[in-house]
Amino acid sequence: MNPFYITTPIYYVNDKPHIGHSYTTILGDVLSRYHRMMEEDTWFLTGTDEHGQKVQKAADEKGISPIQQCDETVVRYKELWTRLGIKNDDFIRTTQERHTKIVQKILQDLYDRDLIYKAEYNGHYCVPCERFFTEKDLVDGNLCPDCKRPTNTIVESNYFFRMSKYQEWLIDYIQTHPDFIKPAFRANETLGFLKKPLEDLCISRPKARLSWGIELPFDKDYVCYVWFDALINYISAIGYGTNEENFRKWWPECHHLIGKDILTTHTVYWPTMLKAIGIEPPKTILAHGWWLSGRDKMSKSAGNVVNPMDMSDKYGVDAFRYYLLAEMTLGQDSGFTEESFINRYNSDLANDLGNLANRAIKMTVRNFDSKIPKPAKFEELDMVLLNKANLTVKTMGNAIRSLQPDKGLAEVMNVVRATNRYMEQTAPWTLAKEGNLDRLATVLYTAIEVLRMVGGVLLPVMPDKMKDLLACIGVSDDCTFADLESGGNSTPGTPIKDIDALFPRIVVEKAEAAPAAEKPKKQEKSVKEKKPAPVIPEGCISIEDFFKTELRTAKVIAAEPVPNTEKLLKLQVQVGEEQRQIVAGIALFYKPEDLIGKLVVIVANLAPAKLRGIESNGMLLAASAGDSLKLVTVDAPDFPSGAKIG
Ligand code: ME8
Ligand code: MG
Repeated sequence: MNPFYITTPIYYVNDKPHIGHSYTTILGDVLSRYHRMMEEDTWFLTGTDEHGQKVQKAADEKGISPIQQCDETVVRYKELWTRLGIKNDDFIRTTQERHTKIVQKILQDLYDRDLIYKAEYNGHYCVPCERFFTEKDLVDGNLCPDCKRPTNTIVESNYFFRMSKYQEWLIDYIQTHPDFIKPAFRANETLGFLKKPLEDLCISRPKARLSWGIELPFDKDYVCYVWFDALINYISAIGYGTNEENFRKWWPECHHLIGKDILTTHTVYWPTMLKAIGIEPPKTILAHGWWLSGRDKMSKSAGNVVNPMDMSDKYGVDAFRYYLLAEMTLGQDSGFTEESFINRYNSDLANDLGNLANRAIKMTVRNFDSKIPKPAKFEELDMVLLNKANLTVKTMGNAIRSLQPDKGLAEVMNVVRATNRYMEQTAPWTLAKEGNLDRLATVLYTAIEVLRMVGGVLLPVMPDKMKDLLACIGVSDDCTFADLESGGNSTPGTPIKDIDALFPRIVVEKAEAAPAAEKPKKQEKSVKEKKPAPVIPEGCISIEDFFKTELRTAKVIAAEPVPNTEKLLKLQVQVGEEQRQIVAGIALFYKPEDLIGKLVVIVANLAPAKLRGIESNGMLLAASAGDSLKLVTVDAPDFPSGAKIG
């Protein structure tokens, strides 16, 4: 069986961590816990990115040294990971010698092989992104195409990595390895980026301007560009150049989890660097979307971050982990609000799962002397439910292997809801009253079997809560997927422990309504609602509902008919930095060549779909009346693509 090596980005230590960092790290933790439960050899790496201008600037502002800044911030990350139940196998800091000496070794090797050379650089530099741009990359004159902040003009001598040499190879590699960049539309985005000639990468910074970095082994007046240094962590941490055997054990069975903000560095810089070094690319680069605060990215620099410590202190670590994993469809952006958190908590965890555990366990304690009863005869209803639960274990396994935990979780919750319906149908409380102990035993046994499978399959997401749940029904938390899938059925006679409410309902007090002295009910958590929710008249939607639809401008750059169809056109559109493919049913109304250059309006966050087997990422807006159809366009064709509408 293949080993499983998974990484998170190494985070900058310029500021404290926020919910976005927590998400990627929790995702890595959950995936690695699943793989361990599948009895695969697993290695989970996270760490911190400690060099570069951002860190130096943060240190300067506080009047401390850069390494002090690193040492202080790294503690916050480590504390948070402990608090969030993260079980990483290693934590790499790029200031550690095990990393710096490997970066230097690689630099020297590439320099000796003339893959790094010196030249004069004349261009634009974005300080927050730590990236160079050429004139044509910039937007609105002088702005960084990524963060849209002003760039500085720079002229200086620097060292360059011959990245351009690998452009054709990289395009071919991406095209022939569909699992390399996920989701698939991110691969298209990278291929879109690679349509422009790929330039060589500036990999040095003169010490006169920035001294906080790894010194170039062949020129002590320069330090290494922070991204060239940082990416190497994925191989230095597992022993590249020092422990060949360990390195070969994990590489290239490696999966990088990243946010979409660092797609280009990971899907262009990194594979070309590896190619030059003579190493295969990693198996997968999975780019997830952003957690948004309202409609904006949550980011340290924007100052609109949710503090993950606060959230997990308030509602519990496991509930927080569950929410982040279940709420975000991998690849898409997701809005974080306390309200959506409370809604999901109350419905999935308190109502569905918590309620089921409570009912099944308490009734068994009461009616069968705190022991798992021996089932009598299974009826079809029981078998259907047990099969469904069993199937969900397999579904979750597959969802994890295809890196889609959110899909697996949705299935598990379906089984939980089906089991609550089963309880309503079989009404064990009536069976108990009637003294029908045979049937009661079968029903409760069935419900406990489901709890065993569901509790087991949710262990990686909610390790503490599910451990408590499983302990009540006599199952240990070191069970494997194989145990869940087969053989290990609940044994009649096993002692059952009564259960405390796993997920007490969160009661939202209306600010005006609750008298100050009134205490929330026992086993209920309470939280003050900031504003009473507005009443939405029937047939209307709220502004939040409207903004769930992400409308953006898009420039059509290519269009062609879909063969063997009358109505479909396949379009390539530019949406800001990103290029997408959209299939639209407009062939009867527009010729492909008439569409090129049009600035249209698209629904940008529509789930990807396949039309006649062709991937479509988004939808064009059009007005139709009678037999005619007109695309919605923006009345200034030079207006930027990717602009938000609303
Ligand atoms: O980019 N939503 O570090 P960084 C979701 N040091 N995820 C988010 C997020 C949000 N709003 N904000 C941040 C760096 N993240 C480099 C990486 S790797 C060799 C070097 C997560 O501290 C997401 O994983 O800016 C994103 O890619 C990462 O944090 C960026 O962290
Ligand atoms: Mg960042």
